[in-house]
Amino acid sequence: MRSVVAKRVNDALNFLIHFFLTLTFVCFSNCKEFKNSNNENYQFQHLISIQFINDISFASDLQQRAKNQLGSLPNSPPGSEDDTEAKIKLGNKLFRDINLSANQIQACVTCHPIDGRSAGMDRQTTPRGTFGQLGKRNTPTIFNVGYNSVLFWDGRRNSLYDQAIDPFINPMEMSLSSESELIQKIQNDPSYSEYFANAFPSNPNINLHNVKLSISAFERSLVSKSKFDDFVLGNLLIFNRQELDGLNIFLDVGCTNCHSGYLLGGNHLSKLESVSLYNPNDFGKFEVTGDSNDRYVFKIPSLRNVTLTQPYFHDGSVTSLKETIGRMNEFKLNRRLTSSEIDLLIVFLKTLSDKTKSN
Ligand code: HEC
Ligand code: HEC
Repeated sequence: MRSVVAKRVNDALNFLIHFFLTLTFVCFSNCKEFKNSNNENYQFQHLISIQFINDISFASDLQQRAKNQLGSLPNSPPGSEDDTEAKIKLGNKLFRDINLSANQIQACVTCHPIDGRSAGMDRQTTPRGTFGQLGKRNTPTIFNVGYNSVLFWDGRRNSLYDQAIDPFINPMEMSLSSESELIQKIQNDPSYSEYFANAFPSNPNINLHNVKLSISAFERSLVSKSKFDDFVLGNLLIFNRQELDGLNIFLDVGCTNCHSGYLLGGNHLSKLESVSLYNPNDFGKFEVTGDSNDRYVFKIPSLRNVTLTQPYFHDGSVTSLKETIGRMNEFKLNRRLTSSEIDLLIVFLKTLSDKTKSN
């Protein structure tokens, strides 16, 4: 029922846009003609106006399709209702504290840099842990992580609360010996007591539960809105012709079969079609479940900020975005992509970047 009403409202709006533009065009060209009877000039204005009307109509149709098939980023991720400023502040401090790694050189922010123009990942093929040991997976961006329902390339976690402690004790990352070593280190640092008191006034204990709550609150605060959101929310003129064409291709060829929803990914896993192209020693979800059907099953990453987060894929093996998208021809698309279509897709993908970070 609601969608019928929405469609009627949209049709009415489309009609009004067309009507208004045609009126403007007729008035504009007649007034000019009155002042200046130069015929060529009149025809030129006529063509420009028709082109403009066509562009607006194309943009308006695409906007509806993008709204229905993808949507825009909600203001805050699910589960953030109790994320107070004080919890986020404590989470931020923990996220940046190098003393919480085995040899005091690494924090979450080392691999997930978020300041300035950094887009939440380190741009390494695969990162090194606190002792220089080389990991086998590419670092995903931490921006918008609160909206992901699948976490890690193999999908081994689905909640930020459950994930928050993993990196501290992961031998490939911050390499602490145990959860209790983590808690001890925080307890030994007197600067934390005030932060815990503010974040948890009724129970300011330094314990795992409170650490998990504050790190996940901080992660949920890392929201990154884009030009694409403005377009989907109704600013039709914000996209230029190439951006519109790129979005059109994205919707037409079936990228949305996998990169779906307002994150354009982030919520499902998929089996890799061309396994031979990747690091053969990473079996993806199989490594967590042991089920042979899960061999080479990996998370479909969100495409938000993708033009800022090279290199690509779970093994970070491809640097060029053009080659990365070309690789999607090995997946199940509605048709093969041409080189010029890939260029337009890249122009569209740029509109998914954080508005405050340059592309
Ligand atoms: C040594 C670099 C490194 C450090 C330090 C590190 N991470 Fe990560 N992070 C990674 C890599 C690599 C992955 C992907 C691992 C995988 O999928 O198996 C990842 C994945 C994640 C994810 C899942 C993202 C997604 O989209 O699936 C979250 C959340 C995360 N890290 C948060 C943190 C937090 C919080 C800390 C600090 C407590 C931290 N990371 C420290 C490298 C790092
Ligand atoms: C059948 C599902 C599927 C379809 C369809 C699909 N993708 Fe993907 N895409 C994936 C998976 C899975 C990955 C991650 C693969 C990996 O890490 O090895 C991925 C990765 C990517 C990446 C790299 C992201 C990163 O951060 O590493 C880009 C860019 C991308 N896809 C763009 C597209 C575009 C554009 C289309 C449409 C032309 C498309 N994809 C269609 C499943 C799909």
